[in-house]
Amino acid sequence: MAFSAEWLALREPADHAARDDRLLTAAINAAGQSPMIVDLGSGTGSTLRAFAPLLGGAAAWRLVDSDPALLAQAALSAGPDVTMHPLDLRTLYDLPLSGANLVTASALLDLCSGDWLTRLAARLKEQSVAFYAALNYDGVMTWSQPDRDDAAVTAAFNRHQRSDKGFGPALGPDSARVAAAAFAEAGFRVTEADSPWILGPEEAPLQSQLIDGIASAAAGAGEANARAWAARRRDLVRDGQCYIGHRDLLALPPGY
Ligand SMILES: C[S@@+](CC[C@H](N)C(=O)[O-])C[C@H]1O[C@@H](n2cnc3c(N)ncnc32)[C@H](O)[C@@H]1O
Repeated sequence: MAFSAEWLALREPADHAARDDRLLTAAINAAGQSPMIVDLGSGTGSTLRAFAPLLGGAAAWRLVDSDPALLAQAALSAGPDVTMHPLDLRTLYDLPLSGANLVTASALLDLCSGDWLTRLAARLKEQSVAFYAALNYDGVMTWSQPDRDDAAVTAAFNRHQRSDKGFGPALGPDSARVAAAAFAEAGFRVTEADSPWILGPEEAPLQSQLIDGIASAAAGAGEANARAWAARRRDLVRDGQCYIGHRDLLALPPGY
């Protein structure tokens, strides 16, 4: 599944504002004094930029993504301690985990399957590496000004979220819950927190693109009123607020 650098740039300020500060700080602490961090599905490096002000730059990063164009964009602003790894995450044995003390992901787990998460937890347990996954969509979308088709469009969007994005049937809204269970089952100590987007008129361009994306997915999942819903919703982006639920998760292996 392809993601444009423009879309990732548009959502990045909202993503950074939404991350739970307490879990982000705990993740940085888990990385220790000489952080070597592997970011899965890195895109252009949003997680690295979220960590940078708190890490003070003293970290080595390995950015892993299957999209070479996004990695090339990440490389433009990356320092000497950042390396690019064009890999398909489905083959977990290729992951560059040697010496890593933290594995991160953001806006990734909802694309993945339960089986993949179970295998990831086993792989990270083998290496005794902590895992921090931010911004996992949780299925909740609400607007300050309700529309008659909100519930139907949300239900269709959530059905679309569960379709295969390359990893097998995607977890979509269940990703944080299933990830927490998989890592707890593997012996990790799991902490979770809400990290919703709360988008107001100042995020109107993000809201508009989001609405188009929701409508397109909902229409693809059979919701006949999705396009008309989007037209009405777009007219309201300068007047109201939109809430999109996410969950952040930190999983510490035994001994941390
Ligand atoms: C929603 S984007 C999130 C990007 C970035 N983490 C962020 O927060 O801006 C999901 C990312 O996962 C990558 N991705 C999806 N499937 C993948 C796979 N099978 N192997 C490697 N990367 C994958 C995409 O290329 C994309 O960069």
